[in-house]
Amino acid sequence: GTPATADTSSPTPPADSDLVRAALGRPVDRTPVWFMRQAGRSLPEYRALRAGTAMLQACQDPDLVTEITLQPVRRHGVDAAILFSDIVLPLVVAGVDIEIKPGVGPVVAEPVRTVADVDALPDLHPDQLGFLVTAVRRLVAELGPTPLIGFAGAPFTLATYLIEGGPSKEHARTKAFMYAEPEAWQRLLTKLSVSAAVFLRTQVDAGASAVQLFDSWAGVLSATDYAARVLPHSRAVLDGLGDRAAGERDVPRIHFGVGTGELLPLIGSAGADVVGVDWRVPLDEAARRVGPGYSLQGNLDPAVLLADRDTLDAEVRRVVEQGRAARGHVFNLGHGVLPDTDPGAITHVVELVHELTSRA
Ligand code: CP3
Repeated sequence: GTPATADTSSPTPPADSDLVRAALGRPVDRTPVWFMRQAGRSLPEYRALRAGTAMLQACQDPDLVTEITLQPVRRHGVDAAILFSDIVLPLVVAGVDIEIKPGVGPVVAEPVRTVADVDALPDLHPDQLGFLVTAVRRLVAELGPTPLIGFAGAPFTLATYLIEGGPSKEHARTKAFMYAEPEAWQRLLTKLSVSAAVFLRTQVDAGASAVQLFDSWAGVLSATDYAARVLPHSRAVLDGLGDRAAGERDVPRIHFGVGTGELLPLIGSAGADVVGVDWRVPLDEAARRVGPGYSLQGNLDPAVLLADRDTLDAEVRRVVEQGRAARGHVFNLGHGVLPDTDPGAITHVVELVHELTSRA
């Protein structure tokens, strides 16, 4: 047993939702739909609220987090909220000097380049996450029947930012460190897996209904390197989240990366209930690759939201049809909403997916 105080003041998450049912392969009333990066720059009401507050400041303000997380739920009628935060936040809270530069992404003041840098990285302590507990509890109370998805960055993707010092295409420094310093690499990913687990556990205990682990850049690795040098650390995060046999709530785990076509079965076997798929692999083919034990999430190309209505509708229908090959399907994009997206196109996709998949 955990101390009663930790749980008693967290609101009860919805007992049942299409998101959780689809994620666990149970029958749904209609295919649930949400969008990666649904909270953010495509919404004028977001830009208005965020004006004058730095991104990583906003993420630690429970009032702003609550309001920004709710905006896309109100506007689009999506079937899940995703916490407004960022994958680098656990590092920032632990004391790493990181800034998110608009239009660039996370920039690390002192990149991790040596074994000593790895050992000097501060650990995240649950006591530092009071703002997160407050925000999640408030959100769960406000969301009512709509489930909240908590999330964290996976150890590999966080390591790429720490080592490169910022966004990168080739991730060459990251790979060089992984090959040259295999023991320090394992220590670095172990540290990052512990902080990701603390960050996710805090969200689940405060009432999140599902979690997504973002390993956005894992697709740059070969299957062999991914399996030996990364997967065990992601599995440590996902396995740490609960023992269903012990009667915990079913909190499904979604695991996503970009360009992971060759890694899909491994992404699943790291401890996922749902494998997130980008737009490159059709969902019926992805279902074949992961096998019958997993639901799928995805995978409309985010750029299709910029196309004309007929093209958009045809692509949404294709994704819905191909998604029927999976054990369960959570409709989403293949990656995040692009900044120039018309919010009206997003609302339209939600309505169309619901219309195409409603049981009579
Ligand atoms: O999905 C959501 O709506 C929830 C919020 C969310 C953000 N970042 C908010 C954000 C989530 C889930 C993330 C995850 C995240 N952050 C990932 C994994 C998902 C992915 O895209 O693969 C990654 C790689 C990051 C790192 C990061 N943070 C990037 C690459 C950027 C974009 C930089 C830019 O401005 O183009 C950010 C900044 C960021 N994270 C913004 C938001 C709303 C934009 C900052 C702003 O509005 O000023």
